[in-house]
Amino acid sequence: MPNFYLKTYGCQMNVYDSERMVHLLKPLQFTQTEKLKEADLILFNSCTVREKAKQKLLSDLGRLKSFKEKNKKLIIGMGGCVAQEEGDRLLKRIPHLDLVFGVDQVDQLPELIGRIQETKSRLAVTAFDTDPKFSLSYVRKDFSPVSAFITIIKGCDKFCSFCIVPFTRGREKSRPPREILQEIELGVEKGTREVTLLGQNVNSYAHEGYTFPKLLRLIAQVPHLKRIRFTSPHPQDFCDDMIACYEELPNLCKHLHLPVQSGNNRILKAMRRWYTIEHTQERIEKLRSKVPNVALSTDIIVGFPGETHEEFEDTLKLLRDIRYDSIYSFKYSPRVGTLAYEFSEELSEEEKNERLQRLQSLQDEISLEMNQKLVGQTYEVLVEKKSLGLAHAVTLQGRTDTNKLVHFKGDASLIGKFTRVRLTSAMPHSFLGDENLGN
Ligand code: 5AD
Ligand code: SF4
Repeated sequence: MPNFYLKTYGCQMNVYDSERMVHLLKPLQFTQTEKLKEADLILFNSCTVREKAKQKLLSDLGRLKSFKEKNKKLIIGMGGCVAQEEGDRLLKRIPHLDLVFGVDQVDQLPELIGRIQETKSRLAVTAFDTDPKFSLSYVRKDFSPVSAFITIIKGCDKFCSFCIVPFTRGREKSRPPREILQEIELGVEKGTREVTLLGQNVNSYAHEGYTFPKLLRLIAQVPHLKRIRFTSPHPQDFCDDMIACYEELPNLCKHLHLPVQSGNNRILKAMRRWYTIEHTQERIEKLRSKVPNVALSTDIIVGFPGETHEEFEDTLKLLRDIRYDSIYSFKYSPRVGTLAYEFSEELSEEEKNERLQRLQSLQDEISLEMNQKLVGQTYEVLVEKKSLGLAHAVTLQGRTDTNKLVHFKGDASLIGKFTRVRLTSAMPHSFLGDENLGN
């Protein structure tokens, strides 16, 4: 039986697409392997959001040359955003690559592999799907993780000046609510308890009168679906109806990831992010007033072209003012084809590193203080897996509704279930806890 190896880079949309690939490869009688050298088919699902991710992928791919020399039947394929961006240039650049497939070709993967096997040719297929409708054939038949990703909208129409995504993922298209609901219901029937709704801009969701809040209300009714998360919304479209959903829907998790990118209005404008810091703060204040203890996280880019010291200080001030529970932070990475790529005032790597470090150590302090306040409280935790790297005998890890990561000692049979855990000590990015069997 032939084996396939699949490595996923980048965001959760790629994780979801990779799950679809696994599902689609089943009828071809391929078995998944974790060992590269055992594989007859190697697939990379790539990311190009920052240069570092792309370089890592290309160097991983470069190392496969010798595998191809040893196994003449080996097929090497690349999907995802680098594939979409580079297309057939990749075939020219990497002689041992057989297949380049774009983000809209995932469903065609078995057919493309079949063609390569038959004709021994190399293929690059990356045209965007021109159908105004967005439908995925994927149904969760034998894969229903307790926490599942579900794509609800693809593409992005926002064209923030730093971002390559609108070019690699194409225009926004929303999946029909019926199809989303069906996929969730099937998963829940087989054990899924948490879903994360995915899209570059989930609150741009629009399908025949369905807005994102309306979709949330529909999904919230699925029996036995305990938790709903989503990522990512855009601050510009974070409307009152979204806040109402947090108040109304008990299974909507008390966590909001709202990428703000910068704490300075001039930089936001240069980023083509059409909101102000004041607007974001007002939205967050309103949410916090209606949903006390809601956890907040965000994305920050440091070192955008022309960002002055004062403008960077504004971002630090924003972190102090809002006090996010956690942040994802990145050094600005110029992407060919984006508007910001043409901006001249690029900061030095050294300056970007220094800013990133200052930002992260400030946030670590804030996160630790926020987390320390929660020590002693008991939370319902959805147990994900055994945790690595801790000295305890059997240590498990799970998340609270507020997306806090907790490590605690417990029986492996708890994996995939909810249990109550008392937080005993706090770190900036996680907690230690004790399973609270008394409650
Ligand atoms: N450089 C650095 N970070 C970027 N992101 C997107 N494009 C870039 C870029 N060119 C970050 C943004 C976005 C997250 C997914 O990745 O913060 O929210
Ligand atoms: Fe990129 Fe902006 Fe679209 Fe997010 S909203 S995917 S940052 S262009």
